[in-house]
Amino acid sequence: MKNPYIPKLARITDIRDETPDTKTFCIALSDGQRDFRFSPGQFVELTVFGYGEAPFSISSSPMCTDHFELTIRKMGTVTSALFRLGINSVIGIRGPLGKGWPIEKMKNRDVLIIGVGIGLAPLRPLIEYIIANRKDFGKVVLMYGARTPADLVYKYEFSRWSQNIEVHLTVDVGDETWKGRVGVVTVLFDEIDVDPKTTIALQCGPPIMMHFVTKKLKELGFPDDSIYLSLERLMKCGMGFCGRCTISGRYVCKEGPVFCYSEIRGFLERAV
Ligand SMILES: Cc1cc2nc3c(=O)[nH]c(=O)nc-3n(C[C@H](O)[C@H](O)[C@H](O)COP(=O)(O)OP(=O)(O)OC[C@H]3O[C@@H](n4cnc5c(N)ncnc54)[C@H](O)[C@@H]3O)c2cc1C
Ligand code: FES
Repeated sequence: MKNPYIPKLARITDIRDETPDTKTFCIALSDGQRDFRFSPGQFVELTVFGYGEAPFSISSSPMCTDHFELTIRKMGTVTSALFRLGINSVIGIRGPLGKGWPIEKMKNRDVLIIGVGIGLAPLRPLIEYIIANRKDFGKVVLMYGARTPADLVYKYEFSRWSQNIEVHLTVDVGDETWKGRVGVVTVLFDEIDVDPKTTIALQCGPPIMMHFVTKKLKELGFPDDSIYLSLERLMKCGMGFCGRCTISGRYVCKEGPVFCYSEIRGFLERAV
C-alpha cells in the first residue's frame, strides 16, 4: 500500500505577486499527471524540502486540471523558504485533502460569498466554478474586504467576475487611489439585497470576521444550515490521523475545512 505521508514531486511553473506579502504559485505535478482534480474549498499539504510542510487552499479554477495555484502569505519557516524558490523549483504535494464547499446544495439557489484578505483564496475556485456553470445558480453576490487597497488579492479578476456576478469591495483604510467603500466587510451588507430564504452564504476569513458576519447573517434571518465557513487550524497529517486539528471533537482536515454553521455552532464564539 502507498504511504499517504509521502508527497508527490511537483514543479513551480509560475509565480505572481498579489500583495506586498502574498504571492500566487502555479504548480504542476512532475510525474506527468495532467488530471489534478479537486473540489473548490479543498487544500493541499505543500513540502519545501529541508524546511517542512504546511496546508494551503487550492485557489485556481477546478476546470483547469493540468496545473493548480496556491495563494500564499509569507508567515514563518515553510512560507519564507518557499518565497526564496524560483520557477522550476521542485516541491512536494499531498492532496487534494479535506471537504470543500457544498456545491450540490448550492445549485438553483442564490449565493452570497464573503471573504476577507487571503480568505478569498479558497473561494476563488468556487467563483470560477459558478461562472463556468452560471445557469445552475441564481443571483450570486461577492462581498470582499482587505486591510488596504494594496492587500486586495486577485485585483486582475474583478472586472471579469463583475460581468457574471455582483462584486462589492471595501478596505479598512483607503488611500489616494481608492474611490470605493471604506470599512470592515460587514459595511457591505447595506449595499446588497439578498433573500435569506433562497440564499446560501459561504465565508472565509479571520475568526473575528466570521463571527461578526455570522451574527449579521443571523440578524437577517439566515438559518444555521444556510451558512458555511472554511476554518483554519494548525495541522500535521491533514488526513484525520494525528488529532492535531480537532474542534469540538471534529477533524478540521478531514471533515472540513468547510463546515456548516449548524455543525460547529459555538466554536466561533469561543475563538474570538
Ligand atoms: C486548511 C488550511 C488552508 C490554508 N490555506 C492557506 C492559504 O491558502 N494561504 C496561506 O497563506 N495560508 C493558508 N493556511 C495557513 C498556513 O497553513 C499557515 O500560515 C502555515 O503555518 C504557514 O507555515 P509557515 O511554516 O510559513 O509558518 P509557521 O512557522 O508554521 O507559523 C508562523 C506563525 O503563524 C502561526 N500559525 C500557523 N498556522 C496557523 C493557523 N492555521 N492558525 C493560526 N496560527 C497559525 C504559528 O503559530 C506561528 O506563530 C491554511 C491553513 C489551513 C489549515
Ligand atoms: S491534521 Fe492530523 S488529524 Fe487533522
